[in-house]
Amino acid sequence: MAISGKTAVYGIIADPIGHVRGPSLFNPLFERLGIDAAMVPFHVTATSLQRAVAGFRAIDSLKGWLVTVPHKVGMFHLCDVVGISGTRLQAVNVVRREADGRLVGDNYDGQGFIAGLRHDGIEPKGLDVLMLGAGGAARAIAFALADAGVRRLAIANRTRANAEALAATTRKFFPAFQVEVGAAVAGDQDLIVNATSAGLTPDDALPLDAASLKPRTIVADVIMNPEMTRLLGLAKERGCRIHLGRHMLDSQFSLLARHLSVPVS
Ligand SMILES: NC(=O)c1ccc[n+]([C@@H]2O[C@H](COP(=O)([O-])OP(=O)(O)OC[C@H]3O[C@@H](n4cnc5c(N)ncnc54)[C@H](OP(=O)(O)O)[C@@H]3O)[C@@H](O)[C@H]2O)c1
Repeated sequence: MAISGKTAVYGIIADPIGHVRGPSLFNPLFERLGIDAAMVPFHVTATSLQRAVAGFRAIDSLKGWLVTVPHKVGMFHLCDVVGISGTRLQAVNVVRREADGRLVGDNYDGQGFIAGLRHDGIEPKGLDVLMLGAGGAARAIAFALADAGVRRLAIANRTRANAEALAATTRKFFPAFQVEVGAAVAGDQDLIVNATSAGLTPDDALPLDAASLKPRTIVADVIMNPEMTRLLGLAKERGCRIHLGRHMLDSQFSLLARHLSVPVS
């Protein structure tokens, strides 16, 4: 990839930054399609976000950036326009910088998760789901599961109050949807989703007791690294079908590209 004075620049902001996958997804696409553009990592801490974004607004060759932990909520408040999904979530995971410097954000995490399931041959409509977690990813997934027509959603979280708050917010947007706070216990669910960060390191406690998993249950994780989390490994051993975290990002890739006005084919 030859970078010249005409190259359009895209970024990804995160803290920490070392693990992000955006550049390794977008740069081969730019190269394959002959697009004169490059995506680079910007290591921005939470305390520097406002100053960094003020600088980004002033750079005409910077066309947009992906947003990941811990900036999704902070970046939402710094956008000039936000799409429906980002507004509902009060968090964005992508920002396009318009020619006049206006920042247009949205959030495709939830749509990515659903598209990932479908791409893997799993139709969420009508499923009985237990979701572990009530943070940013869980919130996006809860709304997307409601949109996708799952039959019932139970939310279990380490801090119960956060699960209660997420169930209440989900009910507010989807009044007819059956959502409740549940326990992190495997039973007769069709699908269990780990949307916590438990599993990022090998020493993390399991977010639920895998010994009670039944082979009929599909177990999904949002964690991408390691790809095979301890939970997924144990679920596989117990005969469950598993769904990897990378599907969520891979499947929202074209949505992110479209938001950034990058032609994907
Ligand atoms: N695959 C993808 O495309 C994708 C997209 C977005 C995010 N993710 C991943 O999703 C994960 C969560 O991200 P997030 O933005 O939702 O983070 P977050 O907003 O900080 O939420 C973290 C959630 O995990 C729970 N948690 C943290 N440590 C735990 C532990 N040791 N045991 C049990 N629960 C624990 C928290 O519970 P409390 O409420 O009790 O603190 C909270 O529910 C991260 O690993 C992130 O990389 C993946």
